[in-house]
Amino acid sequence: TFPKRVKIVEVGARDGLQNEKNIVSTSTKIKLIDMLSEAGLPVIEATSFVSPKWVPQMADNAEVLKGIQKFPGINYPVLTPNIKGFQAAIAAGAKEVTVFVAASELFTKKNTNCSIEESLQRSDEILRAARAAGIPVRGYVSCVLGCPYEGKISPAKVAEVTKKIYSMGCYEISLGDTIGVGTPGIMKDMLSAVMHEVPVAALAVHCHDTYGQALANTLVALQMGVSVVDSSVAGLGGCPYAQGASGNLATEDLVYMLSGLGIHTGVNLQKLLEAGTFICQALNRKTSSKVAQATCKL
Ligand code: HMG
Ligand code: MG
Repeated sequence: TFPKRVKIVEVGARDGLQNEKNIVSTSTKIKLIDMLSEAGLPVIEATSFVSPKWVPQMADNAEVLKGIQKFPGINYPVLTPNIKGFQAAIAAGAKEVTVFVAASELFTKKNTNCSIEESLQRSDEILRAARAAGIPVRGYVSCVLGCPYEGKISPAKVAEVTKKIYSMGCYEISLGDTIGVGTPGIMKDMLSAVMHEVPVAALAVHCHDTYGQALANTLVALQMGVSVVDSSVAGLGGCPYAQGASGNLATEDLVYMLSGLGIHTGVNLQKLLEAGTFICQALNRKTSSKVAQATCKL
C-alpha cells in the first residue's frame, strides 16, 4: 500500500543549479523559486551556504534567500556544511537548514574536505546552535546506494550514519542516491536496514536519475512507507563532487505518477511545467522531464 499523501521537497534551485558551470543570475534563481512556490510545492530548497570557493554558483545565497517571496505554509530550507554557513544562513533569514553527511569516507573527503566523523561533528555543532535558535534541521545522507569513489556501500553503513544524525536531532533525513546507480532491489535492502534504526516517518528519498532508475527506486520507497520525496524541476541536478552524475528525479514526472496513483501532493502540474519551461529557457537546455517532453508534443 502507498501513503495517502506525499510531501515533495523541490531541490532544483539548489541541487539543480549548483552543478551549472555558467553562473545563473540571481534574478533568474528568484523567479524560479517564486514560480515553484506558485505551483504549490510545500518545501523548496532555496540555496546553499557553502564555500563560494567550492561552489561559485551558490555565492549569491543571501541575495536569493532575501529576494524570494515567502509563501505562507511553504518552507525554504538551505544547505549548511558548517557553523559558518549556519550563521550566514540565519543572518539572511533562513527559518530551516539542512546538514549533509555521507555513508562514504572518500566522498565526504571530496565533497566537504573531512572525514565522516568530522562531518558528523560539524552537523552536531549546527544542530546544537539550531536547537538554541528554534530552527528545525533536515539531514542528508549521500551515497546510500553507491559512491563514485568507493563503489558499493553497505546498507549497514548507511543505517549507522543515518541513525547518528537522527539521534543528533534532524527531524527528517533524506537518503541520497547521489550518482543514481541504485536499482529497486538495492533500494529495498538499504531502506530495510535503515528502517530498523530510524522511524520511516522521518525518512525521505533523494534519487538521481543517471541510470534511469529514479522513479522506480522512488516507487519502491513509497511502497515501503516513505512519504517524503525529493525531486527537481525539469530533472536538473548533480553534485560537482560526483562527476557524471545526472539530474534528480524530475518533479513533473513524480507529480504525474503520484497523481495517477491517486496520491495527494497539492502541486499544480501546469504551473510546475511553466517553471520547468522557464528555467530550461534560461539555461538554454532541453528539459529532462519525460512529462514535460510529452506535453510539449501533445
Ligand atoms: P575547506 O576548504 O576545507 O574549509 O572547505 P576551510 O574552513 O578551510 O574554508 C575555506 C574557505 O572557505 C575559507 O575562506 C572559509 O572562510 C570559506 P578563505 O579564508 O580562504 O577566504 N568558508 C565558507 N564561506 C562561506 N560559507 C561557508 C564557508 N565555510 C568555509 N559555509 C567546506 C570545507 C565544507 C566549507 C567546503 O568543502 C564546502 O563548502 N563544501 C560544500 C560542497 C557542496 O556544496 N557540495 C554539494 C552539496 S552536497 C550534494 O549535492 C548531495 C545532496 O544533493 C544529496 C545527494 O544527492 O546525495 C545534498
Ligand atoms: Mg543530490
